[in-house]
Amino acid sequence: MSDRPAKRTRVLPVDPRHPDPEAVAEAARIIRAGGLVAFPTETVYGLGANALDAGAVRRIFVAKARPADDPLIVHIDDVETLARLVAEMPPQAEMLARHFWPGPLTLVVPRAPRVPDEVTAGGPTVAVRMPAHPVALALIRAAASPIAAPSANRFGHISPTRAEDVLSDLAGRIDLILDGGPTPVGVESTVLSLVAPVPTILRPGGVSREALEALLGEVRLAQQAADEAALSPGTRPSHYAPRTPMRLYRGSDAAVRAALRQAALEAHRRGEKVALLVAEEDVPALRDLPAVLRAPGSLHDPEGVARRLFATLRALDRAGVDRILARDFGTRGLALAVRDRLTRAAGGDVVEVGS
Ligand code: TXA
Ligand code: MG
Repeated sequence: MSDRPAKRTRVLPVDPRHPDPEAVAEAARIIRAGGLVAFPTETVYGLGANALDAGAVRRIFVAKARPADDPLIVHIDDVETLARLVAEMPPQAEMLARHFWPGPLTLVVPRAPRVPDEVTAGGPTVAVRMPAHPVALALIRAAASPIAAPSANRFGHISPTRAEDVLSDLAGRIDLILDGGPTPVGVESTVLSLVAPVPTILRPGGVSREALEALLGEVRLAQQAADEAALSPGTRPSHYAPRTPMRLYRGSDAAVRAALRQAALEAHRRGEKVALLVAEEDVPALRDLPAVLRAPGSLHDPEGVARRLFATLRALDRAGVDRILARDFGTRGLALAVRDRLTRAAGGDVVEVGS
């Protein structure tokens, strides 16, 4: 992919709860001048530019090596700004914004003409959210403009939940990283389309399907058909992916453990090194295997699994193994987003085992 002459990427530490106004002002100055700043949100780190400056937004695509047909989320710091970005407010938009913002819910709505084509990939809609992170909100406020921000990783790679992850993907390609520590939710926002006849989850994320259904009644989950992939390019079958080949196992706990055991032993016999990404509950049954073993959390704590998922995937990607074998964590609450990310990380290599 295109590589530009390296620039120096500075890292400024900020207190995640009470961000230093000087650090925020410095970051806002870069945004106003058309530069790129990575900053923490409650979900993952974003790579921000002034959303109303087409040239600045184009720089995001260059830095990430992201195809121009993949639209960006516009981040705002109050519900009122939504009205300025929208051509026509869908009936549920206001209620959802008041209920879930600030928070990990992105609303896809008809776009106002002032939103640049670069943000929407030329499409008729725009994705908007108000993040629940003091650093993100302070930055948007100080920049005095909405901020377009994808996750701050190389295109197709695992989203960053720590400043060091941003640095390892984008050092020399962006101006500044505000380091506010690890992000609390750990998976990206739920992307909800309000332009379909029934509200449709294009990407499961930090707001659960159950929470949306409680408010809206019927909510569709976009199927991963080819036409839906065109609707939201972040839903391509291979995305959020480690460099190491990965396989995902789905089924009952006993069947998944047996399958992981057999696969790990077979790989060992072939002379391959494997890593297992499992639940805490699996560890006693699998710890004797000749494999790197990592558990991001308990089957009863999907939030904890989500929070640690991407850091765990990045660690396993650096562990020097030939293959990562992962277990599924179900669909309850944030586990649906975890399943989605693991399925894409595996590039669709999913094995159903007997239940
Ligand atoms: O939590 C998050 O959403 C993070 C933080 C930084 O806010 N952002 C994020 O952005 O994950 P990104 O660009 O990595 O993923 C945004 C997803 C992509 O799948 C994109 O295709 C989809 O949202 N998207 C953006 N605008 C859209 C639109 N107008 N219609 C449909 N999908 C859209
Ligand atoms: Mg992304």
